[in-house]
Amino acid sequence: MERRSEQFSAVSIQPTGKPILQNESLDFKMTSQPSHQSSPLDLVSPMQAMAREAGSLIMGYFRQHVKIEYKGAVDLVTVADRESEALILKEIRKHFPSHDVMGEEGTRIETGSDYKWYVDPLDGTTNFAHGYPVFCVSLAVERRGQRIAGVIYDPTRDEMFVAELGGGATLNGKAIHVSTTANLGDCLIGTGFPSQKRHKNPNIYFYHQITLRTHGVRRAGSAALDLCNVASGRYDGFWEFNLKPWDTAAGVLIVEEAGGKVSDFSGGAFDIASRETIATNGLVHGALLQEFSEIFAGRGLEELASPVEYAKVRSL
Ligand code: IPD
Ligand code: CA
Ligand code: CA
Repeated sequence: MERRSEQFSAVSIQPTGKPILQNESLDFKMTSQPSHQSSPLDLVSPMQAMAREAGSLIMGYFRQHVKIEYKGAVDLVTVADRESEALILKEIRKHFPSHDVMGEEGTRIETGSDYKWYVDPLDGTTNFAHGYPVFCVSLAVERRGQRIAGVIYDPTRDEMFVAELGGGATLNGKAIHVSTTANLGDCLIGTGFPSQKRHKNPNIYFYHQITLRTHGVRRAGSAALDLCNVASGRYDGFWEFNLKPWDTAAGVLIVEEAGGKVSDFSGGAFDIASRETIATNGLVHGALLQEFSEIFAGRGLEELASPVEYAKVRSL
């Protein structure tokens, strides 16, 4: 994996100029409000406008080869991540100047406001940097610690996922619901692997076990879109270790508002700081948690086939 990244980095080029942005302006239905008057209804229109504008910026860069920088050994960042966050921050400050903000690329505004934004300006950066079209913009707002609005925009498919607390979830304006699959063996599940301290992460065992217990496990590379896949019934479940608040804040609300369930790996309430995220259609939640409990206890682990033994019987 590291070698692939180095190769890509060596041939990548600087952006040739400004991204080609669609000539659209942010069409906010609401102007800024004092924070005590804001409600979810005040938020989702500007959130969608911001996500769409940031998605347009990202797509401009996607059509070019942008230079990859490294935050860690395989933790990538590009100019698109930074410019997307700057654009979103500018709009939040313009329309909601009293709100707190936490963004992946370094934004920290902490004034003790009742309202806090979580911004992932480009979720799926590794995909983006390699030209693999699975990435999105993710925005969420909490009020006094409770998630009240979430928007995830996939600019490659022009898909806008939106949820408001108590108001349901939508995809491009139409209500979405989690799947009705009740048997774990019939499920399609998603997961992801961290970009930091990968050698210390046991997820390959979970991947192996759950693959053998379901129709399969997908690893698409955008946790926010993975959660949208659960919300819209494309996946029946998803789990990941060590996600960050900006990865999950919007998607968790979207899953819950689509009728799904989100918890930690023991079935306890999902905590944005807990680093354990498991989301399902609700019907298979208990069965998936039971598998996790068995794996954590080391019970019933299916042996991984040995490549050395396989090589002995390999026919070319
Ligand atoms: C990453 C993606 C990926 C997940 C990683 C995240 P980023 O976010 O969501 O699917 O497996 O854990 O860090 O860095 O592309 O915003
Ligand atoms: Ca992310
Ligand atoms: Ca990101």
